[in-house]
Amino acid sequence: MRHLMNPLDFTVEELEKLFDLAADIEANPAKYAHVCAGKKLATCFYEPSTRTRLSFEAAMLNLGGQVLGFSDAASSSAAKGESVSDTIRIVSCYADICAMRHPKEGAPMVAASRSRIPVINAGDGGHQHPTQTLTDLLTIRSLKGKLGGFTIGLCGDLKFGRTVHSLINALIRYPDIHFIFISPPELKVPDYITDMLTEKGISYKEVIRLEDCMPDLDLLYMTRVQKERFFNEEDYVRLKDFYILDKDKLSAAKQDMLVLHPLPRVNEISVEVDDDPRAVYFKQAQYGVYVRMALILTLLEIEV
Ligand code: CP
Repeated sequence: MRHLMNPLDFTVEELEKLFDLAADIEANPAKYAHVCAGKKLATCFYEPSTRTRLSFEAAMLNLGGQVLGFSDAASSSAAKGESVSDTIRIVSCYADICAMRHPKEGAPMVAASRSRIPVINAGDGGHQHPTQTLTDLLTIRSLKGKLGGFTIGLCGDLKFGRTVHSLINALIRYPDIHFIFISPPELKVPDYITDMLTEKGISYKEVIRLEDCMPDLDLLYMTRVQKERFFNEEDYVRLKDFYILDKDKLSAAKQDMLVLHPLPRVNEISVEVDDDPRAVYFKQAQYGVYVRMALILTLLEIEV
């Protein structure tokens, strides 16, 4: 039995297979419409979500399976003090696979160690968000035709943004990637990541102004400032609008640059950018359904 805790749990070859499956699902949805009949997905979300929870549920429904779960710790027995370990033992009696989001880093890992069914980390604190990374990689592969050979700017909250940490970890396995980290000093990418890049000889630079690197980018990955992970409101208010991507700033970008964002967005991308063909963040959310369908099939070992 396999779980997914970290994007690195799959080899590059396994990811290629997963992305090929996702592409086939996109092209031939009817072929997959009943392949999970009789199977159940539990979504155990101890932290708010729109995309991850609903795309997991849509994925299982698209495969002909069923879904159950909770979207708020307060409506589960966690509110009475039940541990994640006990909850997953119970969920293992009711479902065939579980997607879990938790504000505590490592909680899905604890669940996986006690589970009788595959557990998918659907985001744990500021740590990892592997299925967002699978979504990001599938989006890049589908729209750029390759995973490697580009300069990617990651902009915004690089300290608390788990999607950024997962994506960096995943991208370093592909050739010829150059990272540009764009953040205020208070929200810079953690040292353990830059130390790891230095150790592996992977090229990166850190800048504060988006304008200073826009023409160099093949991909721009925008992120929101993670209000829920700040210790005080004052720091959040000071930093929340540090970056706002608008038409004017985008005019300096390459014509084929892509703007990605895991969403939700707050103010960091002006809505006027949404109609630009380079803005692919809503398409990205759609790819999230295909890749989660492929992931469910893979972890349940269902061959089609
Ligand atoms: N991208 C993402 O994780 O969105 P949600 O928090 O809405 O699931």
